[in-house]
Amino acid sequence: MTLPERVTIVEVGPRDGLQNEPGTVATDVKIGFVDRLSRVGLPVVEVTSFVHPDWVPQLADGAEVLAGMSPVEGVRYPVLVPNERGLDRALEAGVREIAVFAAASEEFSRRNLNRSIDESLEMFAPVVRRAGAAGLRVRGYVSMVCGCPFQGEVPIEDVARVTVSLFELGCDEVSLGDTIGVGTVGQVHHLVDELAPQVLLDRLAVHMHDTYGQGLANTLAAFEAGVRIADTSAGGLGGCPYAPGAKGNLATEDLVYALDGSGVVTGVDLEELIGVTAWMAEQLDRPPASRVAEAVLARQRAT
Ligand code: HMG
Ligand code: MG
Repeated sequence: MTLPERVTIVEVGPRDGLQNEPGTVATDVKIGFVDRLSRVGLPVVEVTSFVHPDWVPQLADGAEVLAGMSPVEGVRYPVLVPNERGLDRALEAGVREIAVFAAASEEFSRRNLNRSIDESLEMFAPVVRRAGAAGLRVRGYVSMVCGCPFQGEVPIEDVARVTVSLFELGCDEVSLGDTIGVGTVGQVHHLVDELAPQVLLDRLAVHMHDTYGQGLANTLAAFEAGVRIADTSAGGLGGCPYAPGAKGNLATEDLVYALDGSGVVTGVDLEELIGVTAWMAEQLDRPPASRVAEAVLARQRAT
Protein backbone atom coordinates (compact mmCIF):
# COMPACT_ATOMS: atom_id res chain seq x y z
CA MET A 1 0.00 0.00 0.00
CA THR A 2 1.35 3.46 -0.88
CA LEU A 3 0.30 6.03 1.67
CA PRO A 4 1.09 9.76 1.48
CA GLU A 5 3.71 11.39 3.75
CA ARG A 6 1.20 13.71 5.36
CA VAL A 7 -2.61 14.03 5.50
CA THR A 8 -5.10 16.52 6.92
CA ILE A 9 -7.67 15.33 9.44
CA VAL A 10 -10.91 17.29 9.72
CA GLU A 11 -12.42 16.67 13.14
CA VAL A 12 -16.23 16.64 12.86
CA GLY A 13 -17.06 15.42 16.38
CA PRO A 14 -18.65 18.60 17.74
CA ARG A 15 -20.96 18.84 14.69
CA ASP A 16 -21.58 15.42 13.11
CA GLY A 17 -20.73 13.71 16.39
CA LEU A 18 -23.25 15.59 18.47
CA GLN A 19 -26.06 16.37 16.00
CA ASN A 20 -27.57 12.93 16.49
CA GLU A 21 -27.13 12.72 20.28
CA PRO A 22 -30.50 11.88 21.82
CA GLY A 23 -30.00 13.78 25.10
CA THR A 24 -29.34 17.51 25.09
CA VAL A 25 -25.63 18.20 25.50
CA ALA A 26 -24.99 21.34 27.56
CA THR A 27 -23.46 24.31 25.73
CA ASP A 28 -20.54 24.35 28.20
CA VAL A 29 -19.75 20.72 27.37
CA LYS A 30 -19.76 21.51 23.64
CA ILE A 31 -17.41 24.44 24.27
CA GLY A 32 -15.19 22.20 26.41
CA PHE A 33 -15.13 19.59 23.65
CA VAL A 34 -14.14 22.11 20.93
CA ASP A 35 -11.49 23.75 23.14
CA ARG A 36 -9.93 20.44 24.12
CA LEU A 37 -9.92 19.19 20.50
CA SER A 38 -8.26 22.46 19.46
CA ARG A 39 -5.21 21.68 21.60
CA VAL A 40 -4.27 18.19 20.37
CA GLY A 41 -2.84 19.21 16.99
CA LEU A 42 -5.97 18.90 14.86
CA PRO A 43 -5.83 21.48 12.05
CA VAL A 44 -9.62 21.73 11.54
CA VAL A 45 -12.48 21.36 14.04
CA GLU A 46 -16.02 21.57 12.61
CA VAL A 47 -17.85 23.34 15.42
CA THR A 48 -21.60 23.31 14.79
CA SER A 49 -24.26 24.00 12.19
CA PHE A 50 -26.57 26.90 11.43
CA VAL A 51 -29.45 24.83 10.08
CA HIS A 52 -33.07 25.29 11.11
CA PRO A 53 -33.11 24.76 14.89
CA ASP A 54 -36.27 22.64 14.64
CA TRP A 55 -34.51 20.29 12.22
CA VAL A 56 -31.49 19.73 14.48
CA PRO A 57 -32.39 21.01 17.96
CA GLN A 58 -29.15 19.67 19.46
CA LEU A 59 -27.11 22.32 17.60
CA ALA A 60 -29.50 25.25 18.12
CA ASP A 61 -26.89 26.81 20.44
CA GLY A 62 -24.25 27.16 17.68
CA ALA A 63 -23.80 30.91 18.19
CA GLU A 64 -23.27 30.44 21.94
CA VAL A 65 -20.68 27.72 21.33
CA LEU A 66 -18.77 29.97 18.92
CA ALA A 67 -18.97 32.92 21.32
CA GLY A 68 -17.80 30.84 24.29
CA MET A 69 -14.94 28.86 22.75
CA SER A 70 -11.27 29.92 22.78
CA PRO A 71 -9.98 29.63 19.21
CA VAL A 72 -6.41 28.43 18.85
CA GLU A 73 -4.22 30.25 16.34
CA GLY A 74 -3.85 28.22 13.14
CA VAL A 75 -6.87 25.97 13.74
CA ARG A 76 -9.79 26.36 11.30
CA TYR A 77 -13.35 26.22 12.64
CA PRO A 78 -15.94 25.57 9.87
CA VAL A 79 -19.69 25.37 10.46
CA LEU A 80 -22.47 23.82 8.35
CA VAL A 81 -24.75 26.26 6.53
CA PRO A 82 -27.64 25.15 4.28
CA ASN A 83 -28.94 28.49 3.01
CA GLU A 84 -28.63 32.27 3.11
CA ARG A 85 -30.37 32.47 6.50
CA GLY A 86 -27.74 30.09 7.86
CA LEU A 87 -24.97 32.15 6.25
CA ASP A 88 -26.32 35.34 7.86
CA ARG A 89 -26.23 33.64 11.26
CA ALA A 90 -22.71 32.32 10.62
CA LEU A 91 -21.43 35.75 9.54
CA GLU A 92 -23.01 37.34 12.60
CA ALA A 93 -21.12 34.80 14.74
CA GLY A 94 -17.81 35.74 13.09
CA VAL A 95 -17.28 32.42 11.29
CA ARG A 96 -14.43 32.32 8.70
CA GLU A 97 -15.27 28.99 7.02
CA ILE A 98 -18.56 27.31 6.10
CA ALA A 99 -19.71 24.05 4.56
CA VAL A 100 -22.77 23.54 2.36
CA PHE A 101 -24.08 20.00 2.09
CA ALA A 102 -25.59 18.33 -0.96
CA ALA A 103 -26.42 14.70 -1.67
CA ALA A 104 -26.06 12.28 -4.57
CA SER A 105 -29.45 10.72 -3.75
CA GLU A 106 -32.72 12.56 -4.56
CA GLU A 107 -34.71 11.06 -1.72
CA PHE A 108 -32.10 11.85 0.92
CA SER A 109 -31.77 15.38 -0.45
CA ARG A 110 -35.52 15.89 0.02
CA ARG A 111 -35.53 14.44 3.51
CA ASN A 112 -32.42 16.31 4.66
CA LEU A 113 -32.95 19.67 2.96
CA ASN A 114 -36.59 19.66 1.80
CA ARG A 115 -35.18 20.18 -1.70
CA SER A 116 -34.35 18.11 -4.80
CA ILE A 117 -30.64 17.93 -5.63
CA ASP A 118 -30.95 20.68 -8.25
CA GLU A 119 -33.02 22.86 -5.91
CA SER A 120 -30.39 22.39 -3.20
CA LEU A 121 -27.62 23.48 -5.59
CA GLU A 122 -29.73 26.56 -6.44
CA MET A 123 -30.08 27.23 -2.72
CA PHE A 124 -26.30 26.97 -2.22
CA ALA A 125 -25.33 29.21 -5.18
CA PRO A 126 -25.88 32.58 -3.44
CA VAL A 127 -24.47 31.16 -0.19
CA VAL A 128 -21.17 30.19 -1.83
CA ARG A 129 -21.04 33.44 -3.81
CA ARG A 130 -21.65 35.67 -0.80
CA ALA A 131 -19.33 33.63 1.42
CA GLY A 132 -16.55 33.87 -1.18
CA ALA A 133 -17.07 37.64 -1.50
CA ALA A 134 -16.77 37.92 2.29
CA GLY A 135 -13.45 36.04 2.17
CA LEU A 136 -14.77 32.84 3.72
CA ARG A 137 -13.43 29.43 2.80
CA VAL A 138 -16.21 27.13 1.56
CA ARG A 139 -16.40 23.36 1.73
CA GLY A 140 -19.07 21.27 0.02
CA TYR A 141 -20.29 17.87 1.14
CA VAL A 142 -21.83 15.16 -1.03
CA SER A 143 -23.78 12.61 1.00
CA MET A 144 -24.66 9.01 0.12
CA VAL A 145 -21.68 8.48 -2.18
CA CYS A 146 -21.52 4.71 -1.51
CA GLY A 147 -25.21 3.88 -1.13
CA CYS A 148 -28.47 5.28 0.20
CA PRO A 149 -30.99 3.85 2.68
CA PHE A 150 -33.85 4.99 0.42
CA GLN A 151 -32.68 4.32 -3.15
CA GLY A 152 -30.01 1.65 -2.57
CA GLU A 153 -27.20 1.91 -5.09
CA VAL A 154 -26.04 5.40 -6.01
CA PRO A 155 -24.49 5.68 -9.49
CA ILE A 156 -20.98 7.15 -9.55
CA GLU A 157 -22.15 9.54 -12.31
CA ASP A 158 -24.56 11.09 -9.80
CA VAL A 159 -21.78 11.53 -7.25
CA ALA A 160 -19.54 13.04 -9.94
CA ARG A 161 -22.24 15.43 -11.18
CA VAL A 162 -22.90 16.86 -7.71
CA THR A 163 -19.18 17.00 -6.84
CA VAL A 164 -18.33 18.89 -10.03
CA SER A 165 -21.35 21.20 -9.53
CA LEU A 166 -20.16 22.11 -6.03
CA PHE A 167 -16.71 23.00 -7.38
CA GLU A 168 -18.34 25.02 -10.17
CA LEU A 169 -20.36 26.94 -7.59
CA GLY A 170 -17.02 27.96 -6.02
CA CYS A 171 -16.39 25.44 -3.25
CA ASP A 172 -12.72 25.22 -2.29
CA GLU A 173 -12.98 21.57 -1.24
CA VAL A 174 -15.55 18.78 -1.50
CA SER A 175 -15.96 16.00 1.04
CA LEU A 176 -17.42 12.68 -0.13
CA GLY A 177 -19.71 11.25 2.53
CA ASP A 178 -20.44 7.56 2.97
CA THR A 179 -23.27 8.69 5.22
CA ILE A 180 -24.46 5.21 6.17
CA GLY A 181 -21.05 3.54 6.15
CA VAL A 182 -21.83 0.83 3.59
CA GLY A 183 -18.89 1.34 1.23
CA THR A 184 -16.01 -1.06 0.77
CA VAL A 185 -12.38 -0.68 -0.29
CA GLY A 186 -12.93 -1.66 -3.92
CA GLN A 187 -15.87 0.72 -4.22
CA VAL A 188 -13.90 3.65 -2.76
CA HIS A 189 -10.94 3.01 -5.08
CA HIS A 190 -13.30 2.92 -8.04
CA LEU A 191 -15.10 6.10 -6.92
CA VAL A 192 -11.90 8.11 -6.48
CA ASP A 193 -10.43 6.79 -9.74
CA GLU A 194 -13.59 7.84 -11.61
CA LEU A 195 -13.58 11.31 -10.02
CA ALA A 196 -9.83 11.93 -10.42
CA PRO A 197 -9.94 13.11 -14.06
CA GLN A 198 -12.83 15.48 -13.28
CA VAL A 199 -11.60 17.28 -10.15
CA LEU A 200 -8.38 18.25 -8.36
CA LEU A 201 -7.60 15.34 -6.05
CA ASP A 202 -5.95 17.55 -3.44
CA ARG A 203 -9.28 19.32 -2.99
CA LEU A 204 -11.22 16.12 -2.26
CA ALA A 205 -11.88 14.76 1.20
CA VAL A 206 -13.54 11.56 2.37
CA HIS A 207 -16.04 11.32 5.21
CA MET A 208 -16.55 7.70 6.16
CA HIS A 209 -19.16 6.67 8.67
CA ASP A 210 -18.25 3.40 10.35
CA THR A 211 -21.57 1.55 10.47
CA TYR A 212 -20.17 -1.62 8.90
CA GLY A 213 -16.69 -1.25 10.41
CA GLN A 214 -15.21 -0.24 7.03
CA GLY A 215 -14.38 3.38 7.85
CA LEU A 216 -10.65 2.91 8.42
CA ALA A 217 -10.10 0.61 5.44
CA ASN A 218 -12.12 2.93 3.20
CA THR A 219 -10.26 6.05 4.34
CA LEU A 220 -6.88 4.38 3.76
CA ALA A 221 -8.12 3.21 0.34
CA ALA A 222 -8.97 6.82 -0.52
CA PHE A 223 -5.49 7.94 0.60
CA GLU A 224 -3.97 5.23 -1.55
CA ALA A 225 -6.01 6.50 -4.49
CA GLY A 226 -4.66 10.04 -4.02
CA VAL A 227 -7.00 11.77 -1.52
CA ARG A 228 -5.18 13.72 1.22
CA ILE A 229 -7.99 14.91 3.54
CA ALA A 230 -10.26 12.80 5.76
CA ASP A 231 -13.06 13.62 8.19
CA THR A 232 -13.27 11.72 11.48
CA SER A 233 -14.83 12.21 14.88
CA ALA A 234 -13.23 11.78 18.29
CA GLY A 235 -14.55 8.67 20.00
CA GLY A 236 -16.44 7.67 16.83
CA LEU A 237 -19.39 9.90 17.71
CA GLY A 238 -21.81 10.77 14.97
CA GLY A 239 -24.74 10.11 12.71
CA CYS A 240 -27.33 11.94 10.68
CA PRO A 241 -30.86 12.32 12.06
CA TYR A 242 -32.27 12.13 8.51
CA ALA A 243 -30.36 8.98 7.46
CA PRO A 244 -31.67 5.88 9.19
CA GLY A 245 -28.85 3.50 10.11
CA ALA A 246 -26.14 6.16 9.99
CA LYS A 247 -23.81 5.43 12.86
CA GLY A 248 -20.77 7.37 13.99
CA ASN A 249 -17.92 8.58 11.84
CA LEU A 250 -14.63 6.73 11.71
CA ALA A 251 -13.02 7.47 15.10
CA THR A 252 -10.20 10.01 14.89
CA GLU A 253 -8.09 7.83 17.24
CA ASP A 254 -8.43 4.81 14.97
CA LEU A 255 -7.15 6.78 11.98
CA VAL A 256 -4.34 8.52 13.88
CA TYR A 257 -3.12 5.21 15.34
CA ALA A 258 -3.02 3.61 11.88
CA LEU A 259 -1.23 6.59 10.37
CA ASP A 260 1.24 7.00 13.25
CA GLY A 261 2.19 3.35 12.89
CA SER A 262 2.66 3.80 9.14
CA GLY A 263 4.80 6.93 9.42
CA VAL A 264 2.16 9.27 7.96
CA VAL A 265 2.24 12.74 9.57
CA THR A 266 -1.05 14.13 10.93
CA GLY A 267 0.18 16.57 13.59
CA VAL A 268 -2.23 14.99 16.09
CA ASP A 269 -1.01 13.80 19.50
CA LEU A 270 -2.77 10.44 19.99
CA GLU A 271 -2.46 10.25 23.79
CA GLU A 272 -3.81 13.78 24.23
CA LEU A 273 -6.64 13.07 21.80
CA ILE A 274 -7.61 9.96 23.75
CA GLY A 275 -7.65 12.12 26.89
CA VAL A 276 -10.26 14.36 25.19
CA THR A 277 -12.29 11.34 24.09
CA ALA A 278 -12.24 9.94 27.64
CA TRP A 279 -13.43 13.31 28.97
CA MET A 280 -16.27 13.44 26.42
CA ALA A 281 -17.27 9.83 27.12
CA GLU A 282 -17.65 10.81 30.78
CA GLN A 283 -19.87 13.75 29.83
CA LEU A 284 -22.06 11.49 27.64
CA ASP A 285 -21.90 8.67 30.17
CA ARG A 286 -20.99 5.93 27.69
CA PRO A 287 -17.75 4.43 26.42
CA PRO A 288 -16.23 5.70 23.16
CA ALA A 289 -16.91 3.84 19.90
CA SER A 290 -13.20 3.57 19.10
CA ARG A 291 -11.22 0.36 19.37
CA VAL A 292 -8.00 2.32 19.80
CA ALA A 293 -9.37 4.58 22.55
CA GLU A 294 -10.87 1.55 24.28
CA ALA A 295 -7.55 -0.35 24.17
CA VAL A 296 -5.40 2.59 25.31
CA LEU A 297 -7.79 3.49 28.15
CA ALA A 298 -7.89 -0.15 29.31
CA ARG A 299 -4.07 -0.23 29.30
CA GLN A 300 -3.92 3.03 31.25
CA ARG A 301 -6.38 1.69 33.85
CA ALA A 302 -4.30 -1.47 34.24
CA THR A 303 -1.04 0.39 34.97
P1 HMG B 1 -37.48 24.44 4.96
O1 HMG B 1 -38.57 24.04 5.87
O2 HMG B 1 -37.65 24.14 3.49
O3 HMG B 1 -37.13 25.97 5.19
O4 HMG B 1 -36.15 23.72 5.46
P2 HMG B 1 -37.59 27.27 4.39
O5 HMG B 1 -36.48 27.72 3.51
O6 HMG B 1 -38.93 27.02 3.76
O7 HMG B 1 -37.77 28.30 5.60
C1 HMG B 1 -38.81 28.10 6.59
C2 HMG B 1 -38.54 28.95 7.80
O8 HMG B 1 -37.34 28.52 8.43
C3 HMG B 1 -38.33 30.44 7.50
O9 HMG B 1 -38.86 31.18 8.62
C4 HMG B 1 -36.85 30.60 7.49
O10 HMG B 1 -36.39 31.92 7.83
C5 HMG B 1 -36.44 29.61 8.57
P3 HMG B 1 -40.25 31.98 8.49
O11 HMG B 1 -40.04 32.95 7.36
O12 HMG B 1 -41.27 30.92 8.18
O13 HMG B 1 -40.38 32.58 9.85
N1 HMG B 1 -35.08 29.11 8.33
C6 HMG B 1 -34.06 29.15 9.19
N2 HMG B 1 -33.95 29.56 10.46
C7 HMG B 1 -32.75 29.47 11.05
N3 HMG B 1 -31.65 28.99 10.43
C8 HMG B 1 -31.71 28.55 9.16
C9 HMG B 1 -32.96 28.61 8.51
N4 HMG B 1 -33.35 28.28 7.26
C10 HMG B 1 -34.63 28.58 7.16
N5 HMG B 1 -30.61 28.10 8.53
C11 HMG B 1 -33.76 23.73 5.66
C12 HMG B 1 -34.95 23.85 4.72
C13 HMG B 1 -32.51 23.65 4.77
C14 HMG B 1 -33.70 24.97 6.53
C15 HMG B 1 -33.93 22.46 6.53
O14 HMG B 1 -34.17 21.39 5.70
C16 HMG B 1 -32.70 22.16 7.38
O15 HMG B 1 -32.36 22.92 8.28
N6 HMG B 1 -32.05 21.01 7.14
C17 HMG B 1 -30.82 20.63 7.85
C18 HMG B 1 -30.75 19.15 8.10
C19 HMG B 1 -29.44 18.81 8.75
O16 HMG B 1 -28.83 19.60 9.43
N7 HMG B 1 -28.98 17.53 8.57
C20 HMG B 1 -27.72 17.08 9.14
C21 HMG B 1 -26.51 17.65 8.49
S1 HMG B 1 -26.09 16.84 6.94
C22 HMG B 1 -25.11 15.47 7.44
O17 HMG B 1 -25.03 15.18 8.60
C23 HMG B 1 -24.32 14.74 6.39
C24 HMG B 1 -22.81 15.05 6.45
O18 HMG B 1 -22.27 14.71 7.71
C25 HMG B 1 -22.07 14.27 5.36
C26 HMG B 1 -22.38 12.77 5.35
O19 HMG B 1 -22.27 12.12 6.41
O20 HMG B 1 -22.71 12.30 4.27
C27 HMG B 1 -22.54 16.55 6.21
MG1 MG C 1 -21.68 12.73 8.34
